[in-house]
Amino acid sequence: MTKAKGLRRNVAHYGDAEFAAYLRKAFIKAMGHTDSALDRPVIGIVDTGSGFNACHRNMPDLIEAASRGVLLAGAIPVPFPIISLQESFTHPSTMYLRNLMAMDAEEMIRAQPMDAVILIGGCDKTVPALLMGAASADIPAITLVTGPMMAGSWRGERLGACTDCRRFWGRFRAGELDADEIAEVSGNLAPTIGTCGVMGTASTMALAVEAMGMMLPGGATAPAVSSERRRIAEMTGTRAVALAAEGLRPSQIMTPAAFENAFRTVMAAGGSTNAIIHLTAMAGRLGIQVDLASIDRYGRETPVLVDLKPSGQGYMEDLHNAGGLAPILREIRDSLRLDALTVTGQTLGENLDTAPAAWPQNVVRTAADPVVAGEGMVVLGGNLAPGGAILKTAAATPALLKHRGRAVVFESLADLAERLDDPDLDVTADDILVLKRAGPIGAPGMPEAGYLPIPKKLARAGVKDMVRISDARMSGTAFGTIVLHISPEAAAGGPLLAVRNGDMIALDASARSLVLEVAPEEIARRLAEAVPEPETGLRGYARLYRQSILQAEQGCDFDFCLPEMTARL
Ligand code: FES
Ligand code: MG
Repeated sequence: MTKAKGLRRNVAHYGDAEFAAYLRKAFIKAMGHTDSALDRPVIGIVDTGSGFNACHRNMPDLIEAASRGVLLAGAIPVPFPIISLQESFTHPSTMYLRNLMAMDAEEMIRAQPMDAVILIGGCDKTVPALLMGAASADIPAITLVTGPMMAGSWRGERLGACTDCRRFWGRFRAGELDADEIAEVSGNLAPTIGTCGVMGTASTMALAVEAMGMMLPGGATAPAVSSERRRIAEMTGTRAVALAAEGLRPSQIMTPAAFENAFRTVMAAGGSTNAIIHLTAMAGRLGIQVDLASIDRYGRETPVLVDLKPSGQGYMEDLHNAGGLAPILREIRDSLRLDALTVTGQTLGENLDTAPAAWPQNVVRTAADPVVAGEGMVVLGGNLAPGGAILKTAAATPALLKHRGRAVVFESLADLAERLDDPDLDVTADDILVLKRAGPIGAPGMPEAGYLPIPKKLARAGVKDMVRISDARMSGTAFGTIVLHISPEAAAGGPLLAVRNGDMIALDASARSLVLEVAPEEIARRLAEAVPEPETGLRGYARLYRQSILQAEQGCDFDFCLPEMTARL
């Protein structure tokens, strides 16, 4: 048992300290505790559950198990709520609210008297928001994910949210499935609670955060409904008490070396493009500036090894049964910064040396036999994306990675919704679909709209993929030859705003370029002509967001949340 010490935050700070402690005692007793409850370390437990959040539906169980671990180690657990964001139920996008959640986490961790904090969450934006907040608050912290859902099955075929959501919806749009069949499918896409079961953003962030050292080893992949998930929760509670005693803080763990390990893990996992934005934002909170050139290098040096959808075939339960993160780290071991410290108090290399031995499996491939050879994700430049753009080559059609085509432009999400399926839309499979004003400012909230559906008439004709470009994001569960995060975005006056129907655009992934084949003077003329977006009438959070949101390459954090940048990656 860890010795109960380290009461740094279990102390009142205003005015008469004795009076404040006396008041706190009165109110902790009102909760049914006895007089001495606060005479030991206090471990806060962040509760991000809600009736809208199936991804976090096991929150009560996990809080109970983590609390048990805290109590077993001689400290007192105190759960407290912050806001809850679930992908399907949040408008206009969870990304719009991620920074609000990060601020909520930071301020509630700082405001309340706790010696360490357990961060429980799982759905896409939650883990990044929690770690952004905890990094800024910088008291001892440890992450516990809710865990992935199990895979489902429909007429003999395995299913998982949400790669298969899209695949089946595409088939429904193409007329291959009828209304009854798609309804049956929807009943099997998310057959249990937990986070999406493919290598989407939630799974990617869980692996990245374990690799970064902010989670117990083995913590990323155990299914939400498993007993192992609860045992991990109990161990997390116990470890949190030791972290409080040791005073080991996020800023000592979330170093440039830890972020490098996280980025390389994302690449090896064939992970979500969203992780690039989130990890950049998390690093920013510690004064670490992430260069897109570094991300491109990690992508170039790391083959995609994990055979999960959308890049491969399996589901998270398969990765868990194959050993979770450990076999991935073993395979890329030579490129990792093994001396990075983790929440165990040991380095990543030491954790890996004591991980269960490898066994034969076919989910995590070897570097000699990868799922996708070469690069899984690339960073593009060129005159259309001076601030960068991302293309997940692992999920793209190889033949389209070098492609020149005519622009078919949609000025906004509303324009896209109105005209995409118009039978008279002038579009062929060789064209490039362009979506504007879906970036951080544009939509607002940079929705996952980058996965533009194939126009219905082309889908019906059997077209499965086209080059699509935008300033939006894409769900980590989606696939296609899709250029994302174009920066600066159209709504910020980026060159994307200048694209017109019929312009020629050239994509060359291996040359890292996205080029609008229009003379520079003409682009400048069109941009000068463009009417600026009206910004009037905004109040409350919308106004704060509009005034403070940064572009994708800076992680879409709020400018005022960033400290001075003191390190680079
Ligand atoms: Fe929550 Fe996919 S919707 S993880
Ligand atoms: Mg998602």
